[in-house]
Amino acid sequence: MRPYKSIEWLAQEKAIRLIDQKALPSVVEYNNYSTVNAVAQAINDMTVRGAPVIGVAAAYGLVIAVFNEESNDVAKLAASMVHADRILRASRPTAVNLFWALDQMAERVAKHQPKTAAEYRQLVLACAQELEAEDIAINKNLSTHALTLLPKDKVTFIHHCNTGALATVDYGTALGVIRMAHESGRQVHVFVDETRPRLQGARLTSWELQQQGISHQLIVDGASSHVMQKFAVDMCVVGCDRVAANGDFANKVGTCNLAMVAKANGVPFYVAAPLSTIDLETSCGADIEIEERASEEVTEIDGARVAPDGIDVYNPAFDVTPAEFITAIITEKGIVYPPFLENLQKIKEL
Ligand code: MRU
Repeated sequence: MRPYKSIEWLAQEKAIRLIDQKALPSVVEYNNYSTVNAVAQAINDMTVRGAPVIGVAAAYGLVIAVFNEESNDVAKLAASMVHADRILRASRPTAVNLFWALDQMAERVAKHQPKTAAEYRQLVLACAQELEAEDIAINKNLSTHALTLLPKDKVTFIHHCNTGALATVDYGTALGVIRMAHESGRQVHVFVDETRPRLQGARLTSWELQQQGISHQLIVDGASSHVMQKFAVDMCVVGCDRVAANGDFANKVGTCNLAMVAKANGVPFYVAAPLSTIDLETSCGADIEIEERASEEVTEIDGARVAPDGIDVYNPAFDVTPAEFITAIITEKGIVYPPFLENLQKIKEL
């Protein structure tokens, strides 16, 4: 039994149930979302967040669209899917998984020729369920591959943001690597970057590690260099929202700082990336759209003002880490080393 689920399809209600990631860890609350606009809003306001799970949430947004369409005309159902696709695509810009999942849905549905409305709705549902199940398998495979990179008995990680069961359908990517290390019997310790401004590390990663009984300490983002100098950190492992063809990748703001600090301290830096996050259409990091979010994320903490009124704020939600700072990229099909331009292409073709 999973103690908590980031996302679940409710067959009776024709809705998805999401854990409210904004409310964690003080409140563990689940809410149902039964319209396309409500799903898009939940992605935008980060009730549901993390690249893989927002892709699956968007896929279920399409399912909701076809179940909510009153007409039983197959052409109208297809049109409602196209309309929903447009709304969902506009919800967040950086994580490619959102766009990838919507593209996958369109492709998978197009392979079949449903004749009736009932068949059409069941097909769209089956495609979303496929993506949901695949995500769990991908994360477990990726995490298993990562075992080859770890010392045999004891391993100390630094992790940024949240990449666990909350950010995916289950198991996690970078946190999946950490979880697999723990489940393999290794003695694991994690330094958890708090991850300003939204504190995904403090609020979500610490909560997940606590549930899983994995030893960890919360640190402020700026402490990573000191931690590397004072303790034997074996590796940094982070997730990603989009990996460009040359290996540059976007992830939660502060990731690039961590990667540079890791290089300066001789600590290996790994990126856990499902192949769905590798976007060969984007040639380099400069071409990745970086989401900017509201200034209140920076000027307030839990609604309490921490900066002077009227202050000007720049709040990029992500940053781009140049490929030269990455030791290797961990995927469900194996570990990818530089040169990334060549090797990412190869692994995508496997
Ligand atoms: O803005 P967020 O919280 O959605 O950002 C999430 C991250 O940056 C994660 O590291 C990334 O999505 C990988 S999740 C497996």
